[in-house]
Amino acid sequence: MRTPFIAGNWKMNTTVPEAVKLVMDMKTQLSAIKNVETAVCPPFVSLTAVKEALKGSDIRLGAQNMYFEDKGAYTGEVSPLMLKGLCDYVIIGHSERRQYFGETNETVRKKVQAAVKAGLRPIMCVGENLAEYEAGGSRDVVQKQLLTSLSGIDIPHDLVIAYEPVWAIGTGRAATGRQAQLVISLIRETVAGVYNTAFADGVRILYGGSVTGDNIAEFIGQEDIDGALVGGASLKPDQFISIVQQTAKVKNV
Ligand code: PGA
Repeated sequence: MRTPFIAGNWKMNTTVPEAVKLVMDMKTQLSAIKNVETAVCPPFVSLTAVKEALKGSDIRLGAQNMYFEDKGAYTGEVSPLMLKGLCDYVIIGHSERRQYFGETNETVRKKVQAAVKAGLRPIMCVGENLAEYEAGGSRDVVQKQLLTSLSGIDIPHDLVIAYEPVWAIGTGRAATGRQAQLVISLIRETVAGVYNTAFADGVRILYGGSVTGDNIAEFIGQEDIDGALVGGASLKPDQFISIVQQTAKVKNV
């Protein structure tokens, strides 16, 4: 019922020519894999060139962030209206945005709302940090992030949620499939509480944090995990292609 989804978050990597080359190196093979939706999220400055390079394929395009106002005196920011028509998806509330750029559950809420209003599909990130994880607080933290960030927002039909434990991002220390499944099933339950079960059953929830071709099968094999948000491994064509291929195989699509 839920189409598996693998998104690559390129973070602050690739110049414009490098971004185009990266997409060209993956395009043919990714296009051959049916029934798994894929997206790449390059830096803002490469969006136009990557969009052009993606022509003729089903690979979707996403941005890594955006501001919540439509326009105005917000030097350096990019608005939902600028992304509309350019991207399908926008990552919102990535832990690196929270950690280095002061984003909060409240700014995430405003951004999710603005994305929905603009017709962009938000990939909303949640996840606990190492101290919270070690204190056994993962569930509470994630639940609070969800409740605050979805509060007052009408059913966001195109919402994707990414559960990314901060201690697993870029560290090579991925969660286990079982750990991720436990938190992700709680996320689905929480979304059901905020909206309803039918909506929650259809929402795609991804795992993110040190996903590679070697461990994707473990995550994708879990009942509530619908795909992955991939950082480092999305910059390596062989790895990213393998992640998508294995997803197609495990989900039997
Ligand atoms: P990683 O990043 O795969 O490099 O751990 C994931 C992410 O931050 O989305």
